Amino acid sequence: MQIVETVSALKAQIKAWRRADHTIAVVPTMGNLHQGHLSLVAKAKEYADKVVVSIFVNPLQFDDKSDLSAYPRTIQHDIEQLTTIDCDLVFTPSADVMYPEGMDNQTTVSVPGSDDKLCGKNRVGHFDGVATVVTKLFNMVQADFAVFGEKDYQQLLVIKKLVQDLNIPIDIVGVATYREDNGLAMSSRNQYLTQQQHQQAAGLYQTLVSIEQKLQQGDDNFEQIQSVALSELTRLGFEPDYVDIRQADTLAQATSGDKALRILAAARLGKARLIDNIACNLA
Ligand code: PAF
Repeated sequence: MQIVETVSALKAQIKAWRRADHTIAVVPTMGNLHQGHLSLVAKAKEYADKVVVSIFVNPLQFDDKSDLSAYPRTIQHDIEQLTTIDCDLVFTPSADVMYPEGMDNQTTVSVPGSDDKLCGKNRVGHFDGVATVVTKLFNMVQADFAVFGEKDYQQLLVIKKLVQDLNIPIDIVGVATYREDNGLAMSSRNQYLTQQQHQQAAGLYQTLVSIEQKLQQGDDNFEQIQSVALSELTRLGFEPDYVDIRQADTLAQATSGDKALRILAAARLGKARLIDNIACNLA
């Protein structure tokens, strides 16, 4: 496995792979890799001959500077894990490599409709930061496929839209959320939880599942379902940010009669802000 820090070294390897007719998949990450990330790499290998994993804690997508400085950086351990699986190249650019003119002088990509709902509403500029860094990574790696987890469902749709709107020649592959035994979605932020909170945190997923059951039973009073779920999360010790039932493909507010739904939630527990979502397909 190669470890590459510069765009020129990355491009040289990509060119060599292209000459040998290899297909390429990229898995963009911010490091602190866990089993969920490793499942994305495994999926990438199903799609392409060569897999590139990028590790870059992108300052442009952090609305809260203390969140950026606290974000866990475990590059040596990440590299060790990647050497044990099917990863061909790790790209670990510095902020100077990603933003050589500085972040204030960086041309940015903004996806309409991303900052008026769900996580975009409370994290100003977050999705512009994601869209910008992902566009740069796509242009640097020139991969055939890019693989992202469904845990960040709104992010996945933002990226699909930017690829479509800007005609970027890459296929986006979404991968089901990797969960711990108690249902908690794997996340780098789970390590901010105490052992007891770790058990409590499963309540977020359970709340989503109980909403799905109500919807499957024909309850279409979305507002009431959401408000009951918010109270339930509070009772379980969370500080909920939102619980929302949306149309799965656009994230527009769901209305009675919609069939393909996504149930999404974000809530604080102790020092962690947790997000999760599940699909709900009504017959
Ligand atoms: O999901 C993440 O880890 C990040 O938002 C991403 C897609 C790597 C962009 O920095």
